[in-house]
Amino acid sequence: MKEKLEKLFFSMKSLSIFTVLSAVGLLLSYSVRYGYVYVDNVLFNYASFAFFIFSVISTLFLFAMLLLKIKSNPFTMKRPVKACIFIGELAGILMILYFAIVLITDSGTSASTAFYLCKKALPVWCAAVFGAFFLFIFPLLKNIKIKKIISVLSVSVLAFVTYASLFPVSRYSFTSGPVVFDNGNGGYSIVFSTNDKGTGFVDYSYGGKNIRIYDENNGRKNGQSTIHTVILPKDHLSGNTYRVGSTRVIDELSYGGRTGKTIESAEYTFNDSFGDNINILSVSDWHTFNKKAETAVKELGESYQAVALLGDCAPGLMSEKDIVNYILKFGYDLTNGSMPVIYTRGNHETRGREAIKLADCLGMDNFYFTTALGNYKIIVLDSCEDKEDSHPEYGGMVDYKQYRTKMVKWLESLQNEDNTKTVVFSHSKEICIEEDLSSLAFHKFNSMNVSLLVSGHEHICDFDNCSNIPTLVDGGINSNGKGTFTASLMKFSPKGIEILCTDNSGKTVFNDSVEWQGVSD
Ligand SMILES: [Fe+2]
Repeated sequence: MKEKLEKLFFSMKSLSIFTVLSAVGLLLSYSVRYGYVYVDNVLFNYASFAFFIFSVISTLFLFAMLLLKIKSNPFTMKRPVKACIFIGELAGILMILYFAIVLITDSGTSASTAFYLCKKALPVWCAAVFGAFFLFIFPLLKNIKIKKIISVLSVSVLAFVTYASLFPVSRYSFTSGPVVFDNGNGGYSIVFSTNDKGTGFVDYSYGGKNIRIYDENNGRKNGQSTIHTVILPKDHLSGNTYRVGSTRVIDELSYGGRTGKTIESAEYTFNDSFGDNINILSVSDWHTFNKKAETAVKELGESYQAVALLGDCAPGLMSEKDIVNYILKFGYDLTNGSMPVIYTRGNHETRGREAIKLADCLGMDNFYFTTALGNYKIIVLDSCEDKEDSHPEYGGMVDYKQYRTKMVKWLESLQNEDNTKTVVFSHSKEICIEEDLSSLAFHKFNSMNVSLLVSGHEHICDFDNCSNIPTLVDGGINSNGKGTFTASLMKFSPKGIEILCTDNSGKTVFNDSVEWQGVSD
């Protein structure tokens, strides 16, 4: 037994394997460090980071012991040293377990974040691991054939990395077709994406002229993003056809630069000329489950002319890819660039290092605004986060109390003197976590004769009469049992709003209607 344990934990082979596992564990656990906050909440502040630093030291220690073992140094056979080796090996396994637990507990919805953080840390990790290998282990290898194979492989990888840093290695292409967002500022933002950085433009004809509008800022084309946002006046796009295009930007310099291939899409036809009857698709809380949400939309079995995306596309916005994969691709799959999309920010779009860029990407000045679909007025509100600004999950990066106060002040300034049929979109049905602000908002809804509040956030499909405003809580993921998704269709007509909610298995979850408020006919 003693011999077996000796072999399992302290032989050269075991030490090599545990050193590699520990190094891999470091990279993996660091890639899911968004889970630190939950561990720290249970233990103490910076507990996870302290464990990470300890793991760095223990990995270095394992590596040093491996070197001594290769050199047959008897130091590694001392009892206290063996105890330290065992603790180091245990720490390596714990890091890998931590990685697996973090990924499993949120059903893989944060996998894209983990991948992004892993990719970011990879160059430093590779430099450390391969640097240590070539400095200390490689010279000790005795087998010439293995040395030659490692040398050839290393030179090949270096040559490829050098080439890829100078020239593009993949064909330039679109990663998402266009999504037409109502930007709340009287215009449309046509947003699409490509697999590399480039400029973006939209081509269309208007008033007998061919027009090309670029994604630009004060005359300077934006060439440093894979997301391209072109803003057009609404009347230029209404009932019109358009194409989107992009030119790859390889290098942008203070003098000169290099551009690559220009690509252009097929033609899209856009329609926002609604009659009295409009079907509006509403989807909330898809949390990276695009396909499941799309299945629920198909199960509704009805056509629609506009889309309300009520927020919570992913756990957070950590990179442009999150915006591309979970907002743009999703919006494009639902609309094919042919109808307006009204975006309501969810609390999870307020998180992550890319969250600050979301408004720019969607061509919006504010996430709260009023707009219209045909004869119907829509008030879009931004409920932001659902906990106090000081909550550790926000890492000291939010100031939503002031923002919500400003939003409610703006809401109070709105008028509805002509009694236009009005609906409110807000990710959270509370509107504000501050009770006083929330009651001011609902008071205003009553005075403006708001007929329906459409919200999400709760992952249930529900309909109630909070504060005397009929409220639809649009389902989202797991809203009708684990693994389900519920989407909603709102049929606006002069008589009222018929609401149909269906899950991804085709089961009707809710079907009823509400009347317009304050309308005499
Ligand atoms: Fe939410």
